[in-house]
Amino acid sequence: MDITKYNKIVLFTGAGMSAESGVPTYRGSGGIWHKYNWEEYACQDAFDRDPKKVLDFHELRRKSVLECKPHDGHKFITKLQNSHDNIIVVTQNIDGMHQRAGTDNVVELHGSLWRLRCDNCGITNNDIGETFVNTKCKCGNYLRPDITWFDDMLNSNVIQQASDVIQKCDLFISIGTSGIVWPAAGFPQEAKSNGAFCIEINTERTELSYIYDKVIIGKAGEIGEYLLK
Ligand code: OAD
Ligand code: ZN
Repeated sequence: MDITKYNKIVLFTGAGMSAESGVPTYRGSGGIWHKYNWEEYACQDAFDRDPKKVLDFHELRRKSVLECKPHDGHKFITKLQNSHDNIIVVTQNIDGMHQRAGTDNVVELHGSLWRLRCDNCGITNNDIGETFVNTKCKCGNYLRPDITWFDDMLNSNVIQQASDVIQKCDLFISIGTSGIVWPAAGFPQEAKSNGAFCIEINTERTELSYIYDKVIIGKAGEIGEYLLK
């Protein structure tokens, strides 16, 4: 297919995009939520109870992400972006792997593992090392990772930004997401209702496969081959 004939392309990525780089997914075999109970590590209540334990868990995640490298699929998206206008990535991933591959224009729905924030003062700090540079705010509060945990509200500006580009796109390609977490689960339908051609790339069919015009059972690392042939 010739994807270059489309004017506005949204690539919507999930944990399966990073899986081939070695970052574990959430729900599949070896998924993070099978190994770790999110109630102990990934919600505000857990952080309020034991901030150090929750920060240690996220530091471990940062270390494991730093051991991984972007793959050919990430690089393909960067190349696509360098040769065409209006290519936007909307990702549920917090690992920053798209940016490490040189991709710009990434809307991070669930925030970033490389940022901390203080809800008391309303500030966010970039913090990109293997270990956290600073885990306490000037006000004395522990800083929390600026990501969406269970029971957290999503950042409404970011959702709006994603929704805007999804409604305007004429090609919507989802890669490596189970599609069951809202509001992201509504995106393919949103794209389709606005006339976009929708492609799903995943190693298996998902609950949302029926919405897509084309379903490709395949790997995120090989998207260049699927999308250019
Ligand atoms: P999931 O773990 O739910 O789904 C990962 C998807 O990737 C599955 O459908 C796999 O079949 C697919 N997959 C695995 N390896 C792949 C590969 N090499 N190539 C292509 N596809 C592959 O992850 P997400 O859909 O991203 O939220 O999960 C959404 C959100 O749920 C996450 O952002 C996270 C989680 O709870 C928060 O932490 C807030
Ligand atoms: Zn503060």
